[in-house]
This record gives sequence, C-alpha cells and structure tokens, in this order.
Amino acid sequence: MYLRDEWYVAALSLELERRPLSRQILGEHVALFRSESGQVVALADQCAHRGYPLSLGTVVGEVLVCGYHGFTYDCSGTCVAVPGQDRIPSKADVRSYHVVEQGLWVWIWMGRGEPDLSKLPETPWLTQNDKWSSVSGVAKIEAPFHLLVDNLLDLSHETYLHNGSIGTPEVATTPIEVEVDEENRVVRVFRHMNEVECPPFYSRTTGLEGKVDRWQDIDYFPPGYYLLHARLAPVSQPPLPDGSDDHAFHMKIFYGLTPSTDTSVYDFWALSRDFCVGDDEIDRFLEKMQAGVVQEDVDALTILQRRAEGTFEVNEVSIKIDRGGLAARRMLMAMYDEAAAQA
Ligand code: FES
Ligand SMILES: [Fe+2]
Repeated sequence: MYLRDEWYVAALSLELERRPLSRQILGEHVALFRSESGQVVALADQCAHRGYPLSLGTVVGEVLVCGYHGFTYDCSGTCVAVPGQDRIPSKADVRSYHVVEQGLWVWIWMGRGEPDLSKLPETPWLTQNDKWSSVSGVAKIEAPFHLLVDNLLDLSHETYLHNGSIGTPEVATTPIEVEVDEENRVVRVFRHMNEVECPPFYSRTTGLEGKVDRWQDIDYFPPGYYLLHARLAPVSQPPLPDGSDDHAFHMKIFYGLTPSTDTSVYDFWALSRDFCVGDDEIDRFLEKMQAGVVQEDVDALTILQRRAEGTFEVNEVSIKIDRGGLAARRMLMAMYDEAAAQA
C-alpha cells in the first residue's frame, strides 16, 4: 500500500530535458519531460491508443508525440492530434500529474484529487544560490521503502558502514534525543557530538582540523522527505543567544524517499552548504563522496532485502539508538491506517 496524497521527489531538475524520462512511482509509470518553453510535465507513461510508453515518444515544442503511431498530447495530457483523421476520440487523453520544480528537485503529487500545496516541503536552501551551493543525485535501491526509512533514521550506521568518509566512532556512541511532533507530523532526532574528530567529508571541505563540535539534527517528514541539519564548528563555540552562528559551517543534507514499487525505492539526495559557495571543485568532491556514501547504503539495503526474500527470518532487537526509527515507523503506520480508513 502507498500513501498517495503526498508529494514525492520525482526527478532531479537536471535530469529533465526534452527527451522524456521514464520513472515508476508508487507503482505507476510516469513520463517526465521539459517542454520547449521549459515547463516540467509529468504524464502517465502509457499511450491511450495501444499503450506504448510515452517516454519513448518525442517532444516537439509543447506537445509529446507517441513513438508508435503518433498520437499527440499537450502538457495537460489532452490528446490534440491523431493520425489520419480530424476527430479525436473522447477517451484519448492520458493522466497528467501535478509537478513543482523547486531548486534542484522536481516534486510530484501522486494523489487523485487537487494537490495539497500546504504539504509541499519548503527547501529554500536549494534555490538560494548566492548563499548556498548545492549538489544532487539519485540512486534506485532494490529494497522496500521502509528499509530506507530505517537506514536514514539511525545514523549510528555511519560509524560502521561509512567508515572513512562520514563515520567516526562517536556517531554510534553519542546518545540521541528524539522528539515526535504529531501535530506537524515530524520525527526529530538530535545528536550533538562535542569535541570529536572531524571526518574527512568535512575536514577536506571546511578546513577544520582535529577536534570539532559536530551536530546532526534530523527532521523526517513522513513519508517522503528527510532533512538533516549538519553543523560543524570549532570546539565549545555554540550558536549565540540571538541564534547567529557565523563561526560554524552548515550543511543541509536532503533525502527524497520515493517508493517505486513494493520492493524498490528511489533515494534522491541533495547537499547544500553555506561555505565555499560557488566552488566547483568542492562541488565535485562532495558529489563524489556523497555518491559513494549512498552506494554503501544501496549495497547494504540490497543485501538486507535479498536475505528477507529468502528463508532467512529477521528477528529484530532494538536498542536506544533505534528510538528515531521506531518513532518514524509508528507515525507511518498511523498514516497508513488513516489512508486505509479514508479509502
Ligand atoms: S500506441 Fe501510441 S499512437 Fe499507437
Ligand atoms: Fe547511510
């Protein structure tokens, strides 16, 4: 079952060009493209004529022409031309999805009704190019969505799985605080590591050396949006009482968790930093590092899923560090129950 009345990341902005992209989201095949005028469009990836994938068609100006027999659709999915006749059958339209391009990401509303714009996550860091530099990427994981939720809510795995890039011993040993905001539907996990080693991911980019204060504050907005506020600062220099924090380095680490099928999930990511803004070399370094970190997660979740599909039975034993992940599971279960009751 999927939570449909939600926004999910459908694509990276830079992935969308004239040539359509095919993506399966919540089990539905979607064709995404950018029209000549720059409009981002998402249509059902199935031609009304004989079902050929529209993603194999061609964008001409503001229309998409099916690659099989030429049924032609405008950006709203209305069929505007068919070959060999003037009359267009009334059922020849295809579904269009509401999409919003926001900085480096393109969001899609998968609900059947009007989109709820109040639910659209705000990601100002991805658009403020003068104050923040951002990079992005995506990986597809052959494992169910909930395994990615577990993974992101328990960062103690950094110590072991991402040793050498972002993992240091203190990530696993520092106690976490968990806050569940039922009203706003957010699970927050705080981990403040003070006077700890600066991992290579940050020492190479911030210039900080030796011991630092490293904070990781997670906001998880189930189901599909996760934001990690990372703060790196010289030891014992917390933000000032007025909230200013100019002596620290900040990074926003975003994840878009988009179920593809019951057993696969897209792992969209983006990093925004308020230091070395506009530095291409740092962009490339972070892109490479983060892609490596994500690949380690992809490998681990793929292994877990393979085990789950076999005869191996997972008996879980939870510890204190799992409180964030368990809170996220509870919130998601309540959302599934609510959606089922409304169906
Ligand atoms: S299947 Fe698309 S035009 Fe025939
Ligand atoms: Fe990870």
